[in-house]
Order: sequence, then structure tokens, then C-alpha cells
Amino acid sequence: MTLRAVVRGVGHHLPARVVPNSEFESRLDTSDEWIRTRTGIERRHFAAEGETTSDLGAAAARAALADAGLAAGDLDALILATSTADLTFPSAATMIQDKIGMTGGFAFDVQAVCAGFVFALANASALISSGQARRVMVVGAETFSRILDFDDRSTCVLFGDGAGAVVLEAAEGEGTARDRGVLATDLHSDGRYRELLYVDGGVSTTRTAGQLRMQGNQVFRHAVEKLAETAHAALEKAGLNSGDVDWIVPHQANLRIITATASRMQVPMERVVVTVQDHGNTSAASIPLALSVGRERGQIKRGDLIVMEAIGGGLTWGSVVLRW
Ligand code: UT7
Repeated sequence: MTLRAVVRGVGHHLPARVVPNSEFESRLDTSDEWIRTRTGIERRHFAAEGETTSDLGAAAARAALADAGLAAGDLDALILATSTADLTFPSAATMIQDKIGMTGGFAFDVQAVCAGFVFALANASALISSGQARRVMVVGAETFSRILDFDDRSTCVLFGDGAGAVVLEAAEGEGTARDRGVLATDLHSDGRYRELLYVDGGVSTTRTAGQLRMQGNQVFRHAVEKLAETAHAALEKAGLNSGDVDWIVPHQANLRIITATASRMQVPMERVVVTVQDHGNTSAASIPLALSVGRERGQIKRGDLIVMEAIGGGLTWGSVVLRW
């Protein structure tokens, strides 16, 4: 028997304000046409003044708990993937813990930028399979609108705010790829690529939050190469291959990257959950948002084999193979 981390509930939350591409046209040398054709993005949500990452994350966590039919007191741990925490400390995870009324267990943030949810999920799965926790909430929540340079057209049109969450629960499996739950993970980072995507401020340097800087075309190149590679590696660890995949649930950064990765994996686009048009790039929130929306649309069903893959600043990248 093998202890597996099985999804028991999923949920998401988006800020009310929707920002269409046309809003950028009036103040920047850009166009709806450029943004759509180069990225697939049509709109994104931006948090209201005073609405924080932990507010979004708590709303998503409550939705996931309701979906799971569980209360906050049933959770042993809460892991938040974010790069845009409310404060330098305490962790935004502990703020979500408080907001949802979880007074026991433990909570912490994971910082792996856009790959954060995949890293957090791998950690949660390890906590469960090692017997350290039975039920773990994994949240991805971001307010990237707070770290955008709204004079830089090459970055500010790309990102959005939002949150998604899953509740994982320990279940006994056979130890085969037929089991439900997390079947394999594959994580990587390489700090030599720091300059490609970073925020130019921080506590121990500028003492400010800073703004996002990206060499987009370089990140694009790494994404197309590394995402299919890590997805294949995770599938291989699970004893599976691309032909077994029901859904790719990719990090939603750019439709061209999503399409190129699916093509390299030889998975047709009908088997890819795409939400980038509505959310933009929500960094660590993008995969749990897509899981929740994909389930809501009736795309993801119990027993489906899902591959999640993401790349972000660091560089960090990785994938998780999970049977829903
Ligand atoms: O989530 C973390 C991972 N991040 C990503 O995965 C993002 C990866 N990168 C990308 O998605 C793409 O590289 C971008 C969407 C950021 C850019 O697309 P690209 O096809 O790589 O374009 P580029 O950076 O090579 O720029 C092409 C042109 C440039 O003009 P010139 O130098 O050819 O005259 C840019 O200045 O497009 C210009 N440009 C824009 N034009 C209109 C850049 N941003 C804009 C804009 N509107 N918003």
C-alpha cells in the first residue's frame, strides 16, 4: 500500500475588477491586437485597493473547503505558493490560516515564483506520503499588479491577480499509476538565470518591494525547451507517457508557450485547459485557477490523468502528474 495525496476539493477566487487589453491602449504604445496575437491574453483581473494576496487566497481556500465538504479545523497544514505576500513577514499562509479559522496545524509560504504551485504541491504530497499530515490545503495566490511597472509595455500587459486552492487528503493506493492522487513530481531550479526574470527590489537590498523585470524572449526560449522535458520526466517516473494524458493543466503565461509545449508532448490542444485569455499570467495562482475552472467547465473529471507544468523566475520549473 502507498499513501497518496488525493484531491478532495478545489476552488478559486478572482478580484471583481476586470481589465480588458483596451485599457492599456490609451496610455502605452500597445494594442489589443499585439497582446492577443503574441500572448493569447484578452483580459485580466486586478485586485482593488486594500485587497491583498491573503484575502484572495482565503476566498479560494474557503471555496475549496466547501467543495471538499470539510471545515478549516479538518486541515493539518496549509501551504501557500506566492511571490507577492501581504507583508515581508509573517507569511501570508498564516494570514490565510487565520482568515479561514484554522487554529491548529501549521502554515508556510513557498516561493518559487510562477512554478510555486507545482513546488507547493510536491511538498504537500511529500508531507502526506510520509505520514506527517493527513489533509493539506495548497493555495496559489498572487497580486502581481502591485509589482508591475505600468510604464513598461513589455511586462505590465502580461500579468493578473487571483487565487486557486486544492484540498489534498491521504488515501491508500496500490502503488501503481492507476491510483488516484499525486503519482510523480519533477522539480528543477537554476539560479544562474536570475537576470532573466526578477523583481528589482527587496528587503535586504533596496528595502522596497521593487518592480518586475523580464527578458521575455529569453524566458520564452527556456519555457518551450524545459516544460515539455519536465513533463516527460514526471510521466516517466510514474511509468506513463504522453498518450496516457487526459489533460495538460499548464502554467498560463502565454498561449504560444502552451501550444508549443503541447505540440512537443504530442498532446492535442483539445486536451489542454486554457484560461490565459481571461486571467493573464497569475504566476503561482495560474495552475490552481485553471484546475478549478477546468473542473467547473466539466473538462476535468474523476479518474482523469493530469499533468501540470510551470516555469518561473529563478529560473524554477517543474511538473506534477496527478490522477484526479
Ligand atoms: O510566468 C513566468 C514565465 N514568463 C513567461 O513565460 C513569459 C515568456 N515570454 C513571453 O511570453 C513573450 O516573450 C512576450 C509575450 C513577453 C513577448 O513576446 P515576444 O514574441 O517574445 O516578443 P519580443 O519580446 O521579442 O518583442 C517583439 C517586439 C519588440 O519590438 P521590436 O524590438 O521588434 O521593435 C517589443 O518592443 O514587440 C515589442 N513589444 C510590444 N509591442 C506592443 C513588447 N511588448 C509590447 C506590447 N505592445 N505590449
